[in-house]
Amino acid sequence: MIGVIGGTGLTEPVFLQNVRILSMSTPWAQTPVEVTTGTVGSHPVAFIARHGRGHKVPPHRVNYRANLWALRQAGVSEVIGVNAVGGIHARTAPGALAVPNQIIDYSWGREHTFFADGLDAVTHVDFTHPYDEGLRQLLLRSAGDVEVWDGGVYACTQGPRLESAAEVRRLQRDGCDMIGMTGMPEAALARELDLPYACLALSVNWAAGLTDEVISMEAIGRVLQSGMATALSVLERAIVRHGATG
Ligand code: HPA
Repeated sequence: MIGVIGGTGLTEPVFLQNVRILSMSTPWAQTPVEVTTGTVGSHPVAFIARHGRGHKVPPHRVNYRANLWALRQAGVSEVIGVNAVGGIHARTAPGALAVPNQIIDYSWGREHTFFADGLDAVTHVDFTHPYDEGLRQLLLRSAGDVEVWDGGVYACTQGPRLESAAEVRRLQRDGCDMIGMTGMPEAALARELDLPYACLALSVNWAAGLTDEVISMEAIGRVLQSGMATALSVLERAIVRHGATG
């Protein structure tokens, strides 16, 4: 079963039928995580709103460990993260979709590993290729008529503020193509749990300083609304295709 972690613009599992809400206790949070199960066609899916019900938890406060743990406990075998990003590369103009193939993590102070306490042995997971190639290809093959960029480096910043123009120029020099606040530690934690993970990124603005315009939540909201509908069409096709091919 595919697990979906929905971010900004995908806070409700609007793409699911036969919805059931599970309350999953995990060792990583005092309060249970709400996991919604349902189906796309005949294919089961489990969904988590990354920022919680009502979109109230900011990126640096998301309990990434509890979210991933709850999804695994619900029985998912792979996870697709849907993330809103700011675009740096020409292929990540507002409204564009990408399936990045690399990450640079600029976030800090987040609970970013399951391998910290009570270990039998120190553990280092391989993270050379942060995203699962099979799951990336599933998303790309499910694009249909939608243009989806195969590649790009996702920069994960701390947030919740947006970046300064100089920070964006530095990210650009580092080779980053898009900026979000939630790609990490999510991808690394999925790897630690051995859950194949891929990201479907929707650009909702040009990154700071790349245009003369001030980045406004209103403008982001407008792009999110139409862009997320397109992202969902890709996601739904991926779920069906995954179900059909096992
Ligand atoms: N920067 C960081 N995260 C984001 C942005 C951005 O410009 N847009 C959407 N998420």
